[in-house]
Amino acid sequence: MNIIRQWLLICISALFSISGVAQTATVNTPIIDFEQRFLPIVARNGMVASPEKLAAQVGESILRGGGNAVDAAVATGFALAVTYPRAGNLGGGGFMLIHLAEDNRQTLIDYRETAPAAAHRALFLNDAGEVDRMKEFFSHQSAGVPGTVAGLLYALEKYGTMSRKEVLAPAIELAENGFAVSFALNWEINARAERLRMNPEALRLFFKPDGSAYDIGDTWRQPDLAWTLRQIQQHGVRGFYEGEVAARINAEMEAGDGLISSADLAAYRAIEREPVRGQFRGFDIVSTPPPSSGGIHILEMLNILEGFDLAAMGHNSAKYLHHLAESMKLAYADRSEYLGDPQFTAVPTSELIDKAYAERQRARIQPQRATPSADIAPGGPLPEESTDTTHYSIADSFGNVVSNTYTLNFSFGSHIAVPGTGMLLNNEMADFAALPGTANAFGLVQGEANRIEPGKRPLSSMSPTLVMKDGKPWLATGSPGGSIIITTVLQTILNAMEFDMNVAAAAAAARVHHQWMPDRLLVESGISPDTIGILRDMGHNVEIGKRTLGRTQSIMLENGWLYGATDTRRPGGWVAGY
Ligand code: DON
Repeated sequence: MNIIRQWLLICISALFSISGVAQTATVNTPIIDFEQRFLPIVARNGMVASPEKLAAQVGESILRGGGNAVDAAVATGFALAVTYPRAGNLGGGGFMLIHLAEDNRQTLIDYRETAPAAAHRALFLNDAGEVDRMKEFFSHQSAGVPGTVAGLLYALEKYGTMSRKEVLAPAIELAENGFAVSFALNWEINARAERLRMNPEALRLFFKPDGSAYDIGDTWRQPDLAWTLRQIQQHGVRGFYEGEVAARINAEMEAGDGLISSADLAAYRAIEREPVRGQFRGFDIVSTPPPSSGGIHILEMLNILEGFDLAAMGHNSAKYLHHLAESMKLAYADRSEYLGDPQFTAVPTSELIDKAYAERQRARIQPQRATPSADIAPGGPLPEESTDTTHYSIADSFGNVVSNTYTLNFSFGSHIAVPGTGMLLNNEMADFAALPGTANAFGLVQGEANRIEPGKRPLSSMSPTLVMKDGKPWLATGSPGGSIIITTVLQTILNAMEFDMNVAAAAAAARVHHQWMPDRLLVESGISPDTIGILRDMGHNVEIGKRTLGRTQSIMLENGWLYGATDTRRPGGWVAGY
């Protein structure tokens, strides 16, 4: 973005509230070009881009109160567990990528769920040796040992500045006193009402005593969740993984034939890891390492694409989308073979993100012709998920940045609530390869590297990512979407790095997705019929999506300003800044 555009954005944003979703406002002035129809929120000191408004405001209030980005990220994470139950959670897991300004370094906290000790490779197979999808998706055995509480508290203790009391207080208040049901929350619960009602505790938690859904504007209180949050506030990780909360989880596991034992809970640990790193032209990319596949494949695709003049092809031209799709196929083919929990399987990370490897991969792309997925074997010459997750990005006035993605896997996870805790169980065990070589919930074909083993973390696609420019954080982003997360983040950062889009335009631009298997190119509305025609002529099996692809929450840091954008593909998102 050039200086004039910067100032225009600043002046225009000043006309609107600094905190809000003003990027959808239309400003008719002849000097605003196409891209500038999408305006980010601009702030100076601190910002939270979140999928839900109240949680964004919680994060902002922590920043205003002198907390750093990690304090705000922990407070926002706990608040989303209250206000955004489809994906905000205590019973799930995720990844938090942190830029620490003082040390000028980045670190990653892996709080992915683990398979219980009693899990085994045939867990979800029936007598005929086929995958029992109901058991995999919606049973007590779908749940991995939750990591969220351990991950958020690890981050707070090591990198935060505030007390547990302070960062948990807003979430407790929201759960205890309740809040007005928004349009988005009403819609989210209604969309999942049928299955939520099948579980008596979920029915009790998410619906009125007469079984009807809360209306927009009704006050929704969650006293059990407030109790659980207080246990965490008072006793830290032990308040969740031991003691009465753990006892309630165990009781529900016993009642429902689940696998998580008190020993599994007590043994859970968040793991701090080195992020994966790479370069694209002048930018440094810092992203999520295994047990997520996200960072590796974002880098692998960027390395392949770096060899093409993408800007000259034109944004979302048939030529550009062809090269994107071909890179996606190559990367996802590798995902099916090589990726898994690094504690259990040797992941060839450095080989997969190697520039020379990308050069060989690039040579496999035919400029005018789609290569059928069946002809793409994983790896070449290597030596070598319906749904919901959520992402938020936070920047503080000290220069720290947090990019966090966490999930229950599907929207509302397994749809099973633990009585007396206000908490849903995840169904993250479905991210393993229940039968290696077959597709999972997101259509992803996965191999032996991701088979079920006790204590193992299921392979993820979650990809909280930071793009660095001149050694400083420039863009923080991430998305839900299962397998679509990786290609969503790829296109968002390419839109900013290669096509010079502001962060709101980068979020709004139409996206595509290919994951090797099945051999189909999903396109969002907004790609022209002419372009789709050319892609079909090139041999792409284009499928015009009935649903949108991903939902980013991003912050760009430029010239001392913070530019935030919540993706308008789903309702309810909010950027709070000051
Ligand atoms: O870790 C993963 O890759 C999946 N459990 C994420 C699920 C997801 O993003 C669903 N959201 N739309």
